[in-house]
Amino acid sequence: MSACLLGLDIGTTGARALLCDEHGRVLSVATAEYPLSTPQPLWSEQNPEDWWRGACDALRAVVAQAGVAPEQIRGLGLTGQMHGSVFLDEQDQVIRPALLWNDQRTAAECAEITARVGAERLIAIAGNPALTGFQAPKILWLRNHEPERYARVAQVLLPKDYIRRRLTGISATDAADAAGTLLLDLRQRDWSDEILAALDIPRAWLPRVFEGPEVTGEVRPDIAAALGLPAGLPVVAGGGDNAAAAVGAGIVQSGIVSSSIGTSGVIFAHSDEIALDPHGRLHTFCHSVPGRYHLMAVTLAAGGSFRWFRDTLRTVTGQHLGYDDLTNLAESVPPGAEGLIFLPYLSGERTPHLDPLARGAFIGLTARHTLAHMARAVMEGVVFALRDGLEIMRNLGMAPDQIRATGGGGKSPLWRQMQANIYATPVATLAAEEGPAYGAALLAGVGAGLFRDVADAVDRCVTLTASVVPDDHAVAQYDRVYAIYRDMYAALRDGMHRLAGVSA
Ligand code: XUL
Repeated sequence: MSACLLGLDIGTTGARALLCDEHGRVLSVATAEYPLSTPQPLWSEQNPEDWWRGACDALRAVVAQAGVAPEQIRGLGLTGQMHGSVFLDEQDQVIRPALLWNDQRTAAECAEITARVGAERLIAIAGNPALTGFQAPKILWLRNHEPERYARVAQVLLPKDYIRRRLTGISATDAADAAGTLLLDLRQRDWSDEILAALDIPRAWLPRVFEGPEVTGEVRPDIAAALGLPAGLPVVAGGGDNAAAAVGAGIVQSGIVSSSIGTSGVIFAHSDEIALDPHGRLHTFCHSVPGRYHLMAVTLAAGGSFRWFRDTLRTVTGQHLGYDDLTNLAESVPPGAEGLIFLPYLSGERTPHLDPLARGAFIGLTARHTLAHMARAVMEGVVFALRDGLEIMRNLGMAPDQIRATGGGGKSPLWRQMQANIYATPVATLAAEEGPAYGAALLAGVGAGLFRDVADAVDRCVTLTASVVPDDHAVAQYDRVYAIYRDMYAALRDGMHRLAGVSA
């Protein structure tokens, strides 16, 4: 009877549970969706009770589908959307809907945090500047805008840690997700007394911090019975979704970087030591590998830009052009799209500009350019935006010898080759890509003693396809175009900000 591992991802669109065996082979996957509400412009909220229902449905379904006996399941790893805030009172009741990672209401609180802690101290201690998505400004927002609710707060948890509390009765978190609050001392891998004092946030509100593979508690007997799980199932700390996905992609040692093109795009690098971008353009967080760190560059509209282009064309032409049609068109045009550049700042930009008012653009249009050039420019623009993040990492001394492409950018052969050429680095893909829940299951395997450590779990379970190698001619052409792409934001920034004012 082989041992099995469970991973549970509390995502933004739904909960996803995954069961794999001790060799990392996926046995079953189940998802349950839940709603997201935007009650006011810039607000983004979810009801933690919906996460709990989704988590229970997904867990029950994944075990039933696989047809395994409960005793075979040895561990559960948790992961989920980062940065959100769940406010609980003394009786463990949720005080208000959770504010999510993509909520943008806290600009004033970010300024307040920077003033109270100091911009340089924030980066030195927490590794990052105050950004609207992070958890700390959400706590200050509650204090500033809903004081009666704030007066009832007894605990603040991240999304997946609220589910842990429901499953085990224990409040705990992991260092990777905790780093996304802005309250963690990255070196100590524990809450920063200096930041908490400056912001007047009680340490008692925050859960104990564990390393990703550490066991934080056991599923309560009544819950285990209701979900078809074994009594006493150990629950490991797990990780924020990006760190857990990186474990599942094998990004657990220096020199390997992943490039993910989903709705947003992320360059993720493992780092043995803390590496800080003094300008705060990269996120520096703890990794789910004990004692290790990671750097992350985030471009907000990656696959999102390509989807915008496809959907806009459909609306205009009424034709059902799909991603494959657009990719085929793009392939008919040479690298550099004959001098057409696309800036993918359709949702503002995080890395490297940290500018919510940045705007997208096609630059260099001539009468010669066609739809095919535009499709190619959009795909190239997304990879140039990711290269911006990679260049900052290279300047910090990181020189990846391999990049692993995940998400839609890993599935498309053209986007894969484009990445190899624009990064001038070989690009590999995963034989089976399962995202954050898979990484969480591997962390559970370490906690349950099936694997020696995270590196051992990756060695045994993560396999790659052959690499795509850069083409010298295309590398040289892309270097020329990228140099122009890089200058365009600075040249156009004033105009972008004035346009944002006109359309506000
Ligand atoms: C990371 C981030 C997102 C969320 C969404 O900084 O904001 O990737 O974790 O799941």
